[in-house]
Order: sequence, then C-alpha cells, then structure tokens
Amino acid sequence: MTQTHKITDHRFDVLVVGAGGAGLRATLGMSAAGLKTACVTKVFPTRSHTVAAQGGVGAALGNMGDGDNWKNHFYDTIKGSDWLGDQDAIEYMCRNAIPSVIELEHFGVPFSRTPEGKIYQRPFGGHTINQGESMAKRACAAADRTGHAILHTLYQQCLKHQAEFFVEYFALDLIMDDQGRCRGVIALCLEDGTLHRFQAHMVVLATGGYGRAFFSCTSAHTCTGDGNAMVLRAGLPLQDMEFIQFHPTGIYGSGCLITEGARGEGGYLTNSEGERFMERYAPNAKDLASRDVVSRAMTIEIHEGRGVGPNKDHIYLHLEHLDPKVLHERLPGISETAKIFAGVDVTKQPIPVLPTVHYNMGGIPTNYMAEVVKDDKGTVVPGLMAIGEAACVSVHGANRLGTNSLLDLVVFGRAAAHRAIELIRPNSPHSVLPDSSGLQAIERMEKILTNKGTLKSSEIRLNMQRTMQRFCAVFRDEKLMSEGQEKIRQVHASLKDLEITDKSLIWNSDLVEALELHNLLEQSLVTLASALNRKESRGAHAREDFAERDDENWLKHTLSTLSGNKTKIAYRPVQMKTLTDEVDVIPPKKRVY
Ligand code: FUM
Repeated sequence: MTQTHKITDHRFDVLVVGAGGAGLRATLGMSAAGLKTACVTKVFPTRSHTVAAQGGVGAALGNMGDGDNWKNHFYDTIKGSDWLGDQDAIEYMCRNAIPSVIELEHFGVPFSRTPEGKIYQRPFGGHTINQGESMAKRACAAADRTGHAILHTLYQQCLKHQAEFFVEYFALDLIMDDQGRCRGVIALCLEDGTLHRFQAHMVVLATGGYGRAFFSCTSAHTCTGDGNAMVLRAGLPLQDMEFIQFHPTGIYGSGCLITEGARGEGGYLTNSEGERFMERYAPNAKDLASRDVVSRAMTIEIHEGRGVGPNKDHIYLHLEHLDPKVLHERLPGISETAKIFAGVDVTKQPIPVLPTVHYNMGGIPTNYMAEVVKDDKGTVVPGLMAIGEAACVSVHGANRLGTNSLLDLVVFGRAAAHRAIELIRPNSPHSVLPDSSGLQAIERMEKILTNKGTLKSSEIRLNMQRTMQRFCAVFRDEKLMSEGQEKIRQVHASLKDLEITDKSLIWNSDLVEALELHNLLEQSLVTLASALNRKESRGAHAREDFAERDDENWLKHTLSTLSGNKTKIAYRPVQMKTLTDEVDVIPPKKRVY
C-alpha cells in the first residue's frame, strides 16, 4: 500500500448493506427485535432506487371484488417465471404478500383508496384469476408513486426503532474467513475517506441490481450491483444472470419508466399502422401480457418496419382516451415524466416508448429464508444473506411479473429479519478478526487511485453499456453473443488503462465511479457467459437459434463464478416443491397469454 489508512472497527449483531425497500425492511425488523443493527448505504436512504418504483406492490387482497386469492398469485408467478422460479419460495412470497402489505399499511404507507376506504388495486401484466380466466386487480397502489411511499415510510420506522445508519459509505468487499464464513464488510466513508471495518454475525446484502451495465435502462445511476460483485470477488456464484428484464414502456430516448399501471388503467400500444398489435401476440391478455411477451412483440413490430417516428424505431403508448380525472388521480407521476422527458401532454398525444432494461432476475442465490447458498445442494454460506434485486431467491425465475419486485423487497426483507432473530442472540460476543481482514479491498482501491493510463471511467463505461445493449438484447443468438463476449472481455481488459484524475480521498466521486465500473464489468462478464451457455429460450432469454423452451435439458438454474476474466458455469436444481400441501406443484406447460 502506498499510504497508511486509518481503519475504524465497528461491531454489530447484524449489518445490512443497502437502504432500498429490502434493506430498510430488514433493518426495521432486526432493530425492532433488539438486534444491534447497522445499515450501510452509499446514498441517503430515501434516494435509493426503490423510490422510483411506480405501479404497485402485488398482494391478492381481493379488495376490488374480483375474488382474487394468493393461490392465483402463486400460479401467475410460476407461469410468469416460465417455470424457472423456485416454487417453495414463490409459495412463501405469495402467501406472505397479504400480511406484509397490511403491515405496510399499518406502518403508514399512504395507499390510494377505494370508495369504501380499502387499499386501491389495479390490473397488471400477467395477473389473473383462475389461471387466466380473467384479469385480476392485484397491484396495491399509492397513485403511481408506490415505491416512494413505501421507502419513506420504512425509513421513518427504522428511525423509530433506533437503527444505526452509516450514510454515504461505499461497501468495498466482504470479509470472509478461511472456513468460508462471512464476518463483515469493509467500507469507505465518502465524506472524509476513512475506512471502516464492520464486523457482524450476519451481513445482509440489499444492494440492488446492475441495470447500469446497459446503455438504456430505467435504473438509477447508482444501480451498479455492488453486492453482486462483492460476492463474485469472494469466489461465490451468482445465479441466472442471463435473465435481464426489458420493461416495455421506457420513454424513447431517455429510458425513464412509464408504469405498466398505465396499461392497467386502460392504456394501449400501437404501431405505425395505428394497429393495437398486442391482440395478435396475446389474444387474451393483450397489452397486459407479461413483460417478456410484450417487449418481444414490440421489438418484432419495429424489426418488421412497423415502428413509429421518423426512424420507425419505437412504439406509441396511448393514454389520451382515458378520463383526465383518472390520469390526475392515478397516474400523476408519469403524466409529469412524459411532459418533461418526451414533451408529450398525455391527455392529447401518445407517449413514444421502447423496451428498456428494467430488472435483473439473476443475482445472489438464496433460499426462501434469505440465506445465501453456494451450490447444487443448497449449502448455506454462514453469516451471509441477500435480499431484493441483489438476490435470486428465485421467485422471478426467467421473467418477473410487475409488482412482484416491491413485494419481493418487503417479503424477503421481513423473512431475513425473522431468520436473523432465530439465529442471533442480541449483543452476543464477537471473536477477534485477523488484522489483515479487508486489506485486499484496500489494495484494490489503492490500485485504482494510483493507476496510470489514458482512459476515463466514462469512456470505458460507455463501451461497456453499448456492448451490453447491442449484444445482450431482447433477441439473442450464438453469433451475436460470442461477438459480445469477445468485446466485453476487451472492455474489461481496458480497465488496466484507466486513470482517475482525483487522487484525494475526500468525496472522490471519480474513485466511486471507477469502483462501480469494475463492479459492473465483472457482472457483465458473467451475464454474457451465462446467456451464451443457456441453449434454449425461456422468459426474458429469447434465443433465435434455440427458439423453444427445453425443459428436458434446461429446467435448472445457472451458477456462474468469476476468476480474473474467466467464467465458470455450474447448475442448481429448480425447487419443484411447495412448503405446505395447500398448493400443489405446478408442472411446466406451454406458456400462452
Ligand atoms: O411498471 C411499473 O410500475 C413497474 C413495476 C415493477 O417493475 O414491478
């Protein structure tokens, strides 16, 4: 090391990394139960990306008189996942959706209301009654700002329970011992450049997805999957990284999200011929088919020359036929976003939209109790949990249903708290960490600070984002992805030529961007390798050279590890079992909407 760093040691029962919906729900549950809990976050909690979630949180409350129940939700989620979801975890999520959302209401989330005063629920893609008989109204909404409402409420609850926050601390790496147990995390305080070693009986990664590996995404600039990369550097696998969700309605040009709730309230898509083309692709669900189906249909329309605009390269989303009162009450946020980012008055004109990277189904493999697992036998990594978009439980399988993300955050944030309470006695003693703990991460940071080269983070990042966007797209094949893999390896190799200009340790955003870029590139490598490896089409992974789903050979999770730029693939069985006999396993069948 070129400089001596002052390292401050902290000890907690539990350390949560990330303060989005999942991190805050876990922090709240753990601190309320008396566990000494810290939450380390690189942004102020209410700026976490959960704040951008719009249309709703899924729970079969049945408030709209549609007779919905959690078993419908269970079926829809399995079908939405294209049978790659673990059915025990899906049962856990759909069943616990109801108490988790009622709990949110009691915490103070200002949900929209029905005339009778119940939580308002709207239709969403792939949400049905009786296995597709009719559309369900399952998305519990706070207008189109549901994530905002949940995030702020959870943060207030955490403060009430005296959780300790370390705000604007960037987690560098996990501290693992030689028995493979996670013992803590080393983090950089952005304000003054001091280093902090957090020792904990349990580390919970709630660090979100890595949408920013792509050029056009709905994700915040902070969505760099830092926890996923920490797991890869610890030699542990990530699961199902080939499954990237494209949301059908990102605003053309800016990528800002227009909620699926807009179609839930009656919006629809048209091509250059003014045709409501979804009727051809999904005769029953139409514009409310699941996201992979709608995104593929839009892409085909554009590829076949029926896109709109001067370059025929996008699609129109119509809301202008809706009652302005509905737009004002139920969709105020996207009405404003469309004005600002597309110059469109939604009461008069359609919004130009395009499928845009939105969500990572893949992530850190866990069981339904949020414990990280590392192999085909489900062996638990002691001391480590993962929740939210960072995790792959896997409840979303190959394609996530809209509203199941906010749900995943609160259900598995809560599950992590329940499990930690079972495993850890409050204020139990810590064994001493070796002095060398975390030094590797400091050396890595130092190397970035002192490296000489000709490239800036922004240049390498743009190369990575363009490569991932083009070569890991809605439709894929061997040739495209092999070229992409070669290119992403070159981009990764160009990191040796990265020089940052700010060499200080005080609020060094140049350094943070470089650390995030390393994280993104490591995940890009395993994403392309996993996508190339899976020789079938399933959910969001649509291969033109293997157009069908192949349950005989591919009904299994991908586990990918990374060493340097070399990836290694292994597999894990899909959990084809339920937790209780209240529901039966749903065997794979053809997926039509
Ligand atoms: O369209 C939306 O409001 C997004 C919801 C989700 O991704 O769950």
